[in-house]
Amino acid sequence: MAYRTNKSEKFYQRALEVLIEGGSSPSRGPANYGSYPLFIERGEGAYLYDVDGNRYVDWMMAYGALPLGHAHPLIVKAVAEAARGGTLFAAATEIEIEVAELIQQMVPGAERVRFANTGTEAAMAAIRLARGFTGRPKFIKFEGHYHGWYDDFMVNAHPQAIASLGYRNDPVKIADSSGLNRSALEDTIVVPWNDLAAVERAIDTHRGKIAAVITEGIMANMGVIPPETDYLKGLRHITRDNKILLILDETVTGFRIAPGGCQQHYGVDADILTFGKALGAGLSVAALAGRAEIMEALAWGGVLHYGTQNASRIGLFAARASLRELCRHRGAAFQHLWAIGESLRSGLLRVFQETKTRAIVQGVGPMLQIMFTERPAIRDYRDFCAHVDQKRYQRLALALFKHGVYMSPSPALHSVASLAHTEKDVKFTLDAARETLTELCD
Ligand SMILES: Cc1ncc(COP(=O)(O)O)c(C=O)c1O
Repeated sequence: MAYRTNKSEKFYQRALEVLIEGGSSPSRGPANYGSYPLFIERGEGAYLYDVDGNRYVDWMMAYGALPLGHAHPLIVKAVAEAARGGTLFAAATEIEIEVAELIQQMVPGAERVRFANTGTEAAMAAIRLARGFTGRPKFIKFEGHYHGWYDDFMVNAHPQAIASLGYRNDPVKIADSSGLNRSALEDTIVVPWNDLAAVERAIDTHRGKIAAVITEGIMANMGVIPPETDYLKGLRHITRDNKILLILDETVTGFRIAPGGCQQHYGVDADILTFGKALGAGLSVAALAGRAEIMEALAWGGVLHYGTQNASRIGLFAARASLRELCRHRGAAFQHLWAIGESLRSGLLRVFQETKTRAIVQGVGPMLQIMFTERPAIRDYRDFCAHVDQKRYQRLALALFKHGVYMSPSPALHSVASLAHTEKDVKFTLDAARETLTELCD
C-alpha cells in the first residue's frame, strides 16, 4: 500500500486555526517536520500509529519519556487504579513516600526527594536551591546543554553558526529566545563542555560568586555526546575544591543508563540531581533529589518551591510501576536497553559502510544519534555546530517515515531504545535505513 499522510495534512490545516504551528511545542512543528507533522493516533509497545493508519517503529519514545514503551499493561493498570481512587488531592499521600523510597534505593546520594512535574521545573528549583543554600548568585552552564526553558538557562542551547560562537575562552552568549528577563543571563556563565581547564578559568574569573555548576551527564540535546574519560569526576573534584555545588541533570539519563543514572555509570556523586522523562513513564513526573543538608533548605521559610500538581497521584502510580519493572530480574531491563541500543548502533554503522554514507553514530547504552560528518567523533557543541550536516540528518529522518521508522527529525534530538523494542525492530529499522539511504543517493 502506498504511503499516504493525507489525514495528517488535513489535521494540520485545521490545527493552524487554533494552535501555533499546529501543535503545542515548536519541536513538533514544521521546523522539524518540514511541511506538516504526522498526527499520531495511538501507541502500542514499540510502535506508533498515525491518523492515516501508518505504523512506525518508534525510536523517539516521547523524547525518552517511555522506558517501557507505549501503553505498557503495567502502566495502563497503574493509571486506571490511581484514577479510580481520585486523580489529585494536593495533600500528603503514601504513594509519594513509596516512589521517593524507590528513588532513594536506586539513586546514589538521593537522601531527600522533592517531586515536580517537568524537567524544566526540577532544574529551575535546583538552581534556586543552589543559590539559596550557598548565598551566591552565579552558575556555570555548558554550551549545547539544555535544562528546560527557564530564562536563566536559555542560552547556547540550540545549534548556531560556528562563527557566531566567539572564541572558546570567552564564549559569546547567544540567547535562545526573545522575551527573556533582560537580566536573566547576567548570572549564567557559559563554558565549553568536556574541557576542565575552561571550568577552572571560569571559576577563577568569578571567584566567590558561583553557587553551582549544572551539567547533563551525557549531552543529549546536541545529538549524543558522551563525557570524556573522567571528565565528570574532574568536575566533581573542581567543584568540591571550590565549595561549589554540582547539579547533575539526569532528566534524560536517569532510570535509563543505569538504575543510578550517570552517577552510577561514571562513578560520580553530585550534590543535587534532577529527573524527569523516564521517571513518569509517560506521565508528568519530575523530581529533584540530593544531600539532605542541601535539600532541607526547601523547607518552609527557606527556598520556595510550590506546585498544585506536584507529586501527581496518577503520575506516581505510573512511576512506581515503571521503577519496579526496571528493577526486576537484577538489571535485566537495563541489559536489554543497552543490548538494543548497541545492536542499532553497530547495525547502522554497517549500513553506512554498505551504502558508502559518511556518517557516524554516537551513543551510550540506549541513547544514540546519527551524525553526518567527516569527523571520527563529535566531542562538544562547537564540533556539532561546525562539523555536523544537520539538513542531511533531517532529510534522512523524514524519508524514514515512509519506510515505517520514526526517529526525531531534529538533528539535535537523539533516538532511544525502550524495553518494548526487540531485535526484530532493529532489523526492520536497518532494512529501512538501507533502502532510504540508497534512495537518497539516487
Ligand atoms: C537534559 C534535560 N533537562 C531538562 C529538560 C526539560 O525537561 P521538560 O521537557 O520535561 O521540561 C530536558 C528536555 O528535553 C532535557 O533534555
